[in-house]
Amino acid sequence: MKRALLFVMILMGAIDSMAKNYTLSTPNNTLIIEAVEGKAPMFRYYGSKATLDEAESVGKALQYEAFHAFGNRTDIPFAALVKFQDGDNAVNLVVESVEQSKEGHISTLCITLKDTLHPFRLKLRYAAFDDCDIMKFSTEYINDGKKPIVLQKYMSASLPVISKNCTLLSLYGNTKNESNEQFERLGYGTKLLTTQQGNRTSYDIHASFMLSLEGEMNEQCGNVIAGSLLWGGNFDIEFINSPFKRLPTLIQAGISPLASDYTLNPKASLTTPEFVLTHSNRGKGEASRTLHYWARHHQVLDGTKLREVLLNSWEGVHFDTTQANMESMAADIAELGGEMFVMDDGWFGNKYPRNNDKTSLGDWEVCREKLPGGIGSLVKMVHDKGIKFGIWIEPEMVNIESELYEKHPDWVLRHPSIEPQPGRGGGQLLLDMTNPQVQDFVFGVVDKLMTEHPDIDYIKWDNNMSMHNASSQYLPLSRQSNLSVDFNLALIKVLKRIRAAHPDVIIQLCASGGTRLNYVYMPYFQEVWASDMTDPLHRLKLQWGALDFYPSNILAAHVCSHNNKYTQRHSPLKFRFDVASMCRLGVEMVPATFTPTERAFAKRAIAEYKKIRPTVQQGDMYKLISPFDDNGEYAALMYVDSDKSKAVTMIYRLLYTHDMPHRIIRMQGLDPNRQYRIREVAPEMENEKLAIDGKIVSGRLLMEEGVVIPELIRRIKGNRPINDLRESNDYRSVVLELVAE
Ligand code: GLA
Repeated sequence: MKRALLFVMILMGAIDSMAKNYTLSTPNNTLIIEAVEGKAPMFRYYGSKATLDEAESVGKALQYEAFHAFGNRTDIPFAALVKFQDGDNAVNLVVESVEQSKEGHISTLCITLKDTLHPFRLKLRYAAFDDCDIMKFSTEYINDGKKPIVLQKYMSASLPVISKNCTLLSLYGNTKNESNEQFERLGYGTKLLTTQQGNRTSYDIHASFMLSLEGEMNEQCGNVIAGSLLWGGNFDIEFINSPFKRLPTLIQAGISPLASDYTLNPKASLTTPEFVLTHSNRGKGEASRTLHYWARHHQVLDGTKLREVLLNSWEGVHFDTTQANMESMAADIAELGGEMFVMDDGWFGNKYPRNNDKTSLGDWEVCREKLPGGIGSLVKMVHDKGIKFGIWIEPEMVNIESELYEKHPDWVLRHPSIEPQPGRGGGQLLLDMTNPQVQDFVFGVVDKLMTEHPDIDYIKWDNNMSMHNASSQYLPLSRQSNLSVDFNLALIKVLKRIRAAHPDVIIQLCASGGTRLNYVYMPYFQEVWASDMTDPLHRLKLQWGALDFYPSNILAAHVCSHNNKYTQRHSPLKFRFDVASMCRLGVEMVPATFTPTERAFAKRAIAEYKKIRPTVQQGDMYKLISPFDDNGEYAALMYVDSDKSKAVTMIYRLLYTHDMPHRIIRMQGLDPNRQYRIREVAPEMENEKLAIDGKIVSGRLLMEEGVVIPELIRRIKGNRPINDLRESNDYRSVVLELVAE
């Protein structure tokens, strides 16, 4: 990011009484906060671009305490609760000073509040981007006193909104069933999105949401606020919807205070996670596009670089990570036109070779029996085939059956008097990241690998256990409830250190699939493994949910074998490729099992993906038909380049019903005044052209009249040629490339 000069203006005292409303703007959003010295800060407005005058004229301005701490009133829910040494927990926050600054694309408003009763301050930070409609809220809690204080509630953000019959969209799921969309009407009372998994924020509930401000949520129209809390630990996002007409709906987001009273030492401060938000007045779709743009340009490491097509060995061979298996898979993906081979689990451990998930985590030495030539020769073998090399690790974990655990039983999370509950495989434990020796060890796992083999191109960083046994053997008893926060802060510190030492290696974030989907990690990782669920029907749905908040280029999506491991569902190869091609394409099977026809198709599909890749990975996403609408018969979405010169439309028929009514897809995001040449991407039958293939149609017509699906996915009838890859009328798909003339 380009760094401009930092301008800091201390404004308090230098402004007249009219100028106490502070405005932060993005291209289309405005935030206005009133700050008067000695008084509580007031939230005035957040929404579409407006002056305070305009917001007041249309009745959208508020006079509501911007950040209320427990103390003197009950009608405003408190975002902070602090307990002082003498037992007092009343706080009276008033404005002390205001600072505004600009650095690069970000303007920041920082309002310092002081407690009139104790030596305690808060800094409310509001930041706005000038190139996208994203704002960030966070809060710093400062103990100015001589004794520790305990933070019992310490939210990052408090956002009041005027709304009517809101619809809330959240994502829920679990491993192999991640990122399901859930829409619900926000009733009166408090709705809470929370997780208590400790270290895997999207294991059950994601820390992201969208809220329609009036009625139903629509992809293309209506006012929608989208928010995401950047935090890997336990979180609370509360929607407090009061039945009192004069009160707005209050959104509070931050670290979950449950079992997490945070002791703050004298002169210490805690900066809470950033809460990122956008306001769209063009529905949910625009909110997703804004988040995607922000993610690629400001939050995800190498977010604007194109990602490679790779083969990952896991589903193909599991722990059977032998030299022969690795060589044959690497050779196959190279021959198919792929660009990288990733060796997954099973490559390490000597005293305890890693042959299943019960042993060896922590012993990050190559298993000489399985891979006698070591990592070096593997890297060379793969590079010699003209492709890149990647490797799997799970550095935050240890197995009880491992040399590491034998040496350092004190490094794991556990209560000294309770037998620890092991995780995966019955023998896995979580290392205690608050312990500086553990921090050095975790850093060292990556550092050693990369120092010894600087030509490793890619790492898959896994995490297969939530924070069970949540007691630290390192922290003193008086700080045990700091564990969840300090653990996650320490992990970020380690990730920063790794990136400072090894900025270029691609690192994928995995946690039993996609159970760690949170933007807090993305400055250190280039992509995430969206799920272990590779069945294309299931995966399409979970990619659909993840795409609400995360851009396609960071979501790794792989083609599974014909018979899916988890669902036992059979699906045609084209459908599997087309679903994986919605995001960052990869392969997760043994290509040696392909028939010659399948192999030829896979080769074509990879070559075609590379052609449409810039648009798929960097274009603006428009969802056209949800797989959850109309009995789940169809799904469709498109990606459009920012200059509208190219687009890719992906259409899926998930379920065929005989004589099903016509379905029309009206495209979006195109230039109405341009003509687009249409080409079918990777057809199954090279000699069967679609009627639309090669035609030139105006963007206007494609958006106004659309395209009729039966013309695109024709019904297949009996007597199919031998080696026809189409298997049934279900699981059919068509991908169209549109290029402006
Ligand atoms: C987790 C990951 C998988 C795979 C295995 C290896 O389950 O989600 O993709 O890497 O671990 O053990």
